[in-house]
Amino acid sequence: MEPPTNLISEAYDVLDANDQSSYTQPAANLYPHQWLWDSCFIAIGLRHRDPERAQIEIISLLRGQWQNGMLPNIIFSPDKRYERDRNFWRSWINPDAPSEVATTGITQPPMLAEAITRVGEMLSPSERRDWYRRVFPSLLKYHLWLYNERDPHGEGLVLQIHPWEVGMDNTPPWMTELHEHQLNLWIRAAKKTHAERAIDLFRRDTRRVPSNERFDAIEALALFDIQRRLRRKIYDIRRILDHSMFAIEDVGFNAILIRNNDRLKAIAAAIHEPLPEEFTTRMKKTEQAFEELWDPLSSNYFSRDFITHKLFKDPSIGSLLALYAGSLPKDKADAIVSQLSDKHSFNSHFPVPSVPLNSSWFKPDNYWQGPTWVNTNWLIIDGLKRYGFLEEAKRLRETTLNMVTSYGFSEYFDPNDGHALGTPAFSWTAALAVDLSLSPIRI
Ligand code: GLC
Repeated sequence: MEPPTNLISEAYDVLDANDQSSYTQPAANLYPHQWLWDSCFIAIGLRHRDPERAQIEIISLLRGQWQNGMLPNIIFSPDKRYERDRNFWRSWINPDAPSEVATTGITQPPMLAEAITRVGEMLSPSERRDWYRRVFPSLLKYHLWLYNERDPHGEGLVLQIHPWEVGMDNTPPWMTELHEHQLNLWIRAAKKTHAERAIDLFRRDTRRVPSNERFDAIEALALFDIQRRLRRKIYDIRRILDHSMFAIEDVGFNAILIRNNDRLKAIAAAIHEPLPEEFTTRMKKTEQAFEELWDPLSSNYFSRDFITHKLFKDPSIGSLLALYAGSLPKDKADAIVSQLSDKHSFNSHFPVPSVPLNSSWFKPDNYWQGPTWVNTNWLIIDGLKRYGFLEEAKRLRETTLNMVTSYGFSEYFDPNDGHALGTPAFSWTAALAVDLSLSPIRI
């Protein structure tokens, strides 16, 4: 079955409505700024209609790059209405932050090399080389930053310091840690006194989206507190780690890094740019170290604690993203794929749920604890194709496009009946629906 042709034009309408001229906001009102991995997915969709606009989407992400190489997860809109957001992060307290734009002090999954490559595919060979030359220095600087700052012991895996860095905000491993170790005295007091209603008054998200579809109020408060502590350490990773704050080597983030390292290597080769030898060694080490996340008892990959190396054995969509890495031995890839066809696990009516159906975390409407997201489906489809699971990839592409055709370009979807959740008119859902529609899988 091929998707109806008006799906593509309706998707472009969503992207046009969210277009801020040099970048695309993820959704009006709820997400008015530029987000890192969102813009990567958006560029992957936009390239089909207008590769030049897709290039602008990526170039505008680079405005936010810090001197040390970090790409922030958010570049704030300069609009007066968002002064509170900018002041809350106050990126300018760190001398590495850019002076022209205000940003956060944390990053998001490194999808940039993938987006650069996909946009490059739409260009002529000489345009592509120019494109690669233009963005390569910033791309390399970003990956070097990931290794220098986020793999301080040279172990191969990179660590994250805030759930927002993994882009799957309330995914189980992070929430386990949050509840066990990050609720300080005043948050516990707020919990005891049932201050939830008062907390919700200060949130933008629960004014736009039903509160049962988001973090609960206590979790939101804990995140606020973590952010405040990061700010107090002026986003300096040495000071942050000295105070043993949250540090997790997330399975999804590291899988995405492995794949994007490959993309970066191909970009460098295409323009004959040598890569630093130490960097090449470290990239190789990531692939080996990724195997330390494998738990033979449950035949699955898991995130782990940076300090104790304890695995967080709650399966979630992050475990499935291992497929996208493309570096897994075949038998382990097979084990991951079998979870996708298991009716008790990830095989819901509208797959792929963000946690398995039989998990104690599973809630069909709650953000990254059950709903289906189009970006993770896109990553899984890519992984399936590379391992030769073409039937599975084809099926998932079809169910994803059916879901979007029937229920719209929502932020996320109920994995059982497909109904729309989160904010409507969400940019990456639209962009990736375009990309999936125009990328049929032939067997
Ligand atoms: C939500 C998502 C995150 C995304 C952001 C902007 O916070 O969890 O992944 O980047 O919205 O769309």
